[in-house]
Order: sequence, then C-alpha cells, then structure tokens
Amino acid sequence: MISDSLESGRIKGLSVHEVRLTVNGTSIEVNVEAWTTLLDLLRERLTLHGTKKGCDHGQCGACTVLLDGVRVNSCLVLAVTLEGKQVVTIEGLAHGDVLHPLQQAFIDHDAFQCGYCTPGQICSAVGLIAEGCPSSDDGIREAMSGNLCRCGAYPNILTAIKEVVNTVETKSPALP
Ligand code: FES
Ligand code: FES
Repeated sequence: MISDSLESGRIKGLSVHEVRLTVNGTSIEVNVEAWTTLLDLLRERLTLHGTKKGCDHGQCGACTVLLDGVRVNSCLVLAVTLEGKQVVTIEGLAHGDVLHPLQQAFIDHDAFQCGYCTPGQICSAVGLIAEGCPSSDDGIREAMSGNLCRCGAYPNILTAIKEVVNTVETKSPALP
C-alpha cells in the first residue's frame, strides 16, 4: 500500500520527507509528501479530527490551530515546514478533565450551535489572547473575522471571549 510505503519513506520518485514535530505535547516523527498540509496530517494521519476542514483554502478558519503559539490556518501550512515546531490543536487545550477557560466559556455562554466552527474559533481566540486582545467589541470582532460561523453564533462567541480576556488580564497566559 502507498500509505505503508509512505510511512517507511521507501517510495521511489515521490517527494517524501521526514519531519519531527510536537503535537499536543507529544514528539512525533512522520514521513509526509511535499504537498501534505498540516490539516491533512492532523486529520488523516494522526486522527485528530477536532480540527475541521471547511473550505481547505484559507477562507473559513475552521482549521485553525496554534503553531508555536500563533494561530494559523492549518490548511495553508505544509507539513514539510514543521521541523521542530510545536502544534496545539483543540484536543491539546484541556488539562485532563479540566477544560481550557475558553472551552468552558464557550459552553457557559452557548457560543455554538452545530459546533463545526467551534474548535477553530476556540484555537483562534487562544491565539488572539496571547497576541494581546483588543479591548473593544469591534476590535475583537475584527480580530476574529477570519473564523466564520454559518450558524451565526457570533454574539455569544464574543461574550465568551470577553469573559476570558477579563480573567486572563489579571491571571496567567492563555496558552496551556
Ligand atoms: S479549512 Fe482552512 S481556512 Fe477553511
Ligand atoms: S456553530 Fe455552526 S458554524 Fe459555528
């Protein structure tokens, strides 16, 4: 099978590269094709399905993860560029049974309906808080504008983020 050959990096003529990175605190070594995106690596190779594929073109934000603490659209990141990088997905935000404050706030404020955009929204908000979140509602909306929500849960998403921003300002950094 191609996938087996890919794993061992033995396919001749295919551009397969060995990459070492950390995903949710675990060091891994994978062989990836030059065109494999971080999104496909997460979902199809590492079975981390929390990160969603919406547009696959950098337009919806459903695939947002944290790369060295910075929010990125994982559909636009090639896995071959990830040597030595740290990736955190929605699965890596909680500490055991204790949810990340943003995960808890999204629940507390009903900040989702179907939930498809939610992992991306939460990862994006984690990155936003680490960047230094704008203080105004409009500033937060603008900073989160790369994450679309077809269900229109924007008002409650804003409320959830603001609650955590207010907490984090007096406590610890947003990243786990
Ligand atoms: S799936 Fe990556 S931005 Fe839409
Ligand atoms: S909750 Fe359905 S797309 Fe956002």
